[in-house]
Amino acid sequence: MVGIQHDVISDLRREHRYLTRLFSVLEEQMAVFNNGETPDYDLVFQVVEFLLDFPSRCHHPKEDVLYRILADSTANLPAGLTNLSLEHEELDKLTSRFSDMLASVLGEAGVARETVMKELESFTRYQRRHMQMEEAFFFPALESGLKPEDWDALAERITNPDDPVFGSTAAKNFIIQCERIARTADFELEN
Ligand SMILES: [Fe+2]
Ligand SMILES: [Fe+2]
Repeated sequence: MVGIQHDVISDLRREHRYLTRLFSVLEEQMAVFNNGETPDYDLVFQVVEFLLDFPSRCHHPKEDVLYRILADSTANLPAGLTNLSLEHEELDKLTSRFSDMLASVLGEAGVARETVMKELESFTRYQRRHMQMEEAFFFPALESGLKPEDWDALAERITNPDDPVFGSTAAKNFIIQCERIARTADFELEN
C-alpha cells in the first residue's frame, strides 16, 4: 500500500510543479502585454483553457477525496490546513473570471491594462498560496495521517486506470496536455 500512497502523492506534487510552471509562463506573457506589446495569445489561451479544465477535472477532485478521508480519520488537522474544497471552488471562480477578462481584452472591450494585471496578480497569488499551503500542511498530513486501511479503501479506484479522478489515464493526460503546451511554445516544464 505504501506504493499506491507514494504514487498518488508524488503525482499531486508533480502536477503542482507543472501548474507552477504554467503560471510563470502566463506571467511572462502578460508582462509582454503590460509593456504594451503583443503577447503570444495562442499560448496564453492554451494555458488558460488547460487551467479551466484539468485541475477541476482531476487534480482538485483527487485532493477533495483525500481531504475528506483525512478530515474523517484525523482528530486534529494541522492548523494551517484550510478547507481545500472551498478553496478549489474559489480557484475555479477566479480562473473563469480571468479567462472571461482575457476574452474581453481580445474582443477589445476596453479593459484597462492595469485591471488585467491586477486580476492576473490576484489569480496567480491565490493559486500559488493554495499550492504552498497544500505542500506545507496537506501532503505531509496525508503521509502521516492516512492509515493503511484508508489507502486500502481507495485501492480499487487508484489501480483502475480508467477511474476519472484517480486513474493513471487521467494523470497521464494531465502530463501530456502540459507537455503539449510546453512543446508548442518551446519552454521547459521542469528546469
Ligand atoms: Fe488544491
Ligand atoms: Fe493541489
